[in-house]
Amino acid sequence: MESIKHIPLPERGTKLTEEQAMKLAISEAYKGATRVSPNPLVGSVVLDAQGGFLACGHHEFYGGPHAEVNALKNLSSAELKDAHVFVTLEPCAHEGKTPSCAKMMAKLPLKKVTFGLIDPNPLVAGQGADILRNAGIDAEVFSSADPKEDREIKTLLEEVCEAFLWNFREKKVFVALKMASSLDGQVALRSGESQWITGPESREYVHYLRACYDAILVGKGTIDFDNPSLNVRHPEINKKNKVVVIDGEAELLHRFTDLKLAQIHAASDVFWCVAEDMKENVEKTLKTLSIAPQIIYVKTNVGGDLNLEDLLAQLHLKGLRSVMVEGGAFTASSFIDQGLVNRIYMFQAPIIMGSGGSRSWTETVRVPTMKDKIHVKNPRYLTFGSDFMITGTF
Ligand SMILES: NC(=O)c1ccc[n+]([C@@H]2O[C@H](COP(=O)([O-])OP(=O)(O)OC[C@H]3O[C@@H](n4cnc5c(N)ncnc54)[C@H](OP(=O)(O)O)[C@@H]3O)[C@@H](O)[C@H]2O)c1
Repeated sequence: MESIKHIPLPERGTKLTEEQAMKLAISEAYKGATRVSPNPLVGSVVLDAQGGFLACGHHEFYGGPHAEVNALKNLSSAELKDAHVFVTLEPCAHEGKTPSCAKMMAKLPLKKVTFGLIDPNPLVAGQGADILRNAGIDAEVFSSADPKEDREIKTLLEEVCEAFLWNFREKKVFVALKMASSLDGQVALRSGESQWITGPESREYVHYLRACYDAILVGKGTIDFDNPSLNVRHPEINKKNKVVVIDGEAELLHRFTDLKLAQIHAASDVFWCVAEDMKENVEKTLKTLSIAPQIIYVKTNVGGDLNLEDLLAQLHLKGLRSVMVEGGAFTASSFIDQGLVNRIYMFQAPIIMGSGGSRSWTETVRVPTMKDKIHVKNPRYLTFGSDFMITGTF
């Protein structure tokens, strides 16, 4: 997943195989990672009639031109004669914020369009390909004759727009979980101290990850212990993110204006999740605040904890399409325990904190037998300074 983000651009005219062209299109797509939500990340590559590299493009920002438009925009009709276009997602058939890409491409002298995935959006699904075929352009879903390459590239194609696919297929918020732990899986001392477990290289990457999701979600304990800013601080990214706080009994709400995050984020970008039955108390507290976050009332489970599925459904209604859960221990554990995490980013530092006086990030998870262990799928491993990061899906 990570190495695919850094494929160097070939010289114009360099011959590429279909597999190389699709991988390059995926690499291009990632360039929009911090700016396209809730649209999908999409990349495109154009090869000439001889299979030589001509151009590439990606969907750069929400509402902006699509990847195919950016890839094709500087090429003449002569250059495009019998050209082969690769796109990670089926070209759109409908007019939305931008004109239909399939209709635009149908007017060009292309020979073939290969796309990675059929668009799950019912306004597109299969129709983009039909528009191209009706114009005499061969339009096909990507496949490789090499079964290993085929599997690998299809996984990469799903991963590059996994949040969008989840949103469309399940009508739910995509949940990523990021935690930093010691080698022995501890995320904080019992005293609450946890800064810093990982090094500056890991932490800079976390700021990139923050920008890839619509909101950062934390539990009340993390606000109380760390008073975090929860914003994006990255030398190359300028993005205002949203913040979600779980505070079932609204214990910290009265301190909202004193919190660092209230000074950094617009109050309307902060979602404070409390139990439905706290309404009366919350209304009273709100009257005492000069600025207040958006309140999300959430159903509770039998034990009184907020029902996280309902919480995510409420966030979906508010327009959020992805969140990155950043702890703390209890919150991370609750999301894992309830099977609500789509992707994990687990940073591990070469230190030992000892379970005697520390907190684990799976403290509420019970695996009765080894048969029940929870698997991380398609795991990938990266290093940041002296830390190690594993990412994968559930
Ligand atoms: N290493 C890391 O990556 C990392 C990241 C973040 C934080 N941390 C550390 O983790 C520690 C905080 O962890 P923590 O477990 O004490 O706090 P936390 O997970 O931040 O917050 C836990 C509290 O949030 C509320 N909460 C969470 N899930 C809930 C649910 N489903 N329903 C209702 N309420 C829910 C509960 O409040 P109520 O008790 O009011 O019900 C719960 O006590 C700190 O030491 C912090 O520094 C480490």
